[in-house]
Amino acid sequence: MKKNQVQHLPVMLDRCVALLTPALENRQEAVVVDATIGLGGHAEALLEKFPHIRLIGIDRDESALEKSRERLSQFASRINFFHAVYDQIPTLLSGMGIHGVAGILFDLGVSSLQLDDLERGFSYSKEAPLDMRMDRSRSLTAANVLNDYSQEDLTRIIKVFGEERFANRIAKNIIKARGTHKLESTAELAEIVKASIPAPARRLGRNPAKRTFQAIRIEVNQELEILKRVIPQAIDCIELHGRMIVMSFQSLEDRIVKQAFADVTKSKSPVGLPIELIEHKAKFRLVFNGSETPDELEITRNPRSQSVRLRAIERIAI
Ligand SMILES: C[S@@+](CC[C@H](N)C(=O)[O-])C[C@H]1O[C@@H](n2cnc3c(N)ncnc32)[C@H](O)[C@@H]1O
Repeated sequence: MKKNQVQHLPVMLDRCVALLTPALENRQEAVVVDATIGLGGHAEALLEKFPHIRLIGIDRDESALEKSRERLSQFASRINFFHAVYDQIPTLLSGMGIHGVAGILFDLGVSSLQLDDLERGFSYSKEAPLDMRMDRSRSLTAANVLNDYSQEDLTRIIKVFGEERFANRIAKNIIKARGTHKLESTAELAEIVKASIPAPARRLGRNPAKRTFQAIRIEVNQELEILKRVIPQAIDCIELHGRMIVMSFQSLEDRIVKQAFADVTKSKSPVGLPIELIEHKAKFRLVFNGSETPDELEITRNPRSQSVRLRAIERIAI
């Protein structure tokens, strides 16, 4: 590891590079969008392997961009960095006069940098302020959500985004606690969750706070709304034989990706039509059926990779 380099293991790195290879090799030039450049692990491998590519690196987190800029300094002339939310991809590309890209990579969720920086409040196992913003220039924090939202909204968020069956009890206890004081720390939220979950259920599986923390983080960063918006937009930016890869870390994200990929890889032919007209043919294909997961060795080396689901599509017609 180089000096000043944050320790970080990019998830399914070799697989991502292999999946993008047919779209990038044997070409004079190609543009790749890394929509979640984070600490630059995937970007570095792609820039190293494909000397002819230009990479557009996006992240909504200024500190991640700072780190990846430093890490990728030797490739500076081939990268454009953008501090942006990834639903800006079409705008950024048209601003650069780019009409199609050969590869797009989404490595969703939080980075090691965000999880390990205690001050940012993403971790349920450490005491920290209730922040959870990926972009610290935004105003909505976890503390705002927990102290200002109604019981009904908190229940819905924890139930839907956290897939938490005790959402009602957790929301009720949040309201009760904030009746006496403002909620300020992650440790307090974790305690409220723990106390809201019946002991037999608490003994099952992982830390009971995980699901509620995920839910609040999704709300703070509007993660699912943005993802739903961006996937079809990004698909439209892929040029012929170009590929898009998405790695999701929880089932709600993966469902959005799976649905969007299914929509563009199915024929639009009306039922009963004896022949498939060219305008009804699918313009994309799934590179493989379903989703892929890391192997045992990767999960052992990098436990954070355990929940990843990788999907990929390729444009086959314009
Ligand atoms: C798992 S990390 C990416 C790690 C990266 N592939 C690497 O190898 O270092 C995800 C990154 O996506 C960023 N991110 C998440 N949602 C985003 C969004 N809607 N727009 C832009 N960046 C986003 C996060 O700030 C985080 O830095």
